[in-house]
Amino acid sequence: MVFLTILLPKHNPMKDTIRIKTSLSEEIESLLNDQVKMEGKSSSIYLAMAAYSDQLGFENSSEFFFTQSEEERQHMLKIFRYIADSGGTPISPDITAVPQEFGSFRGVFESALEQEIAVTKAINKILSAAYQEGDHATANFLQWFVREQQEEEFTARKRIELFDVIGEEGIGRYMIDQKIPEIAPPEAEADLNA
Ligand code: FEO
Repeated sequence: MVFLTILLPKHNPMKDTIRIKTSLSEEIESLLNDQVKMEGKSSSIYLAMAAYSDQLGFENSSEFFFTQSEEERQHMLKIFRYIADSGGTPISPDITAVPQEFGSFRGVFESALEQEIAVTKAINKILSAAYQEGDHATANFLQWFVREQQEEEFTARKRIELFDVIGEEGIGRYMIDQKIPEIAPPEAEADLNA
């Protein structure tokens, strides 16, 4: 008995409980929960953008933002489930201060791009933290989001280009709204051309 006491490492029972319960560090879990909230807020902002575009009379853009809102909710759920599946504690986000006004038809698409750039930065921050900790499971999980953000930023820029290429004079804004559903990520464009 004395022998065992000497060999067994001193341990903090609380620390062991936390380590057994989840594979996530506190920092990664907290960053992932921040991301749950950010994706949830993105979903709400896209919903506001859908309403704003609809009020301006741009139905295709409104529809696009409705779809985008749903996608962001799926992103939120994906991270939420990952935290839960890793034994962590996902936090259902408290979404506040959702903007309802975007200045102009072009302004709404510029806001969408700014939002996507902010999301990309946030994903990169978690990924860097995961690499730093050697948390390859989380790093691997986040690769899907890295790819997704590449596509989202690419298509968000393409939508803004429509304003420069077509112009907003005369029926310009109507034409831009017609073209919004045609904007696709790089592989989808390649598939169409194949
Ligand atoms: Fe899920 Fe496009 O941020």
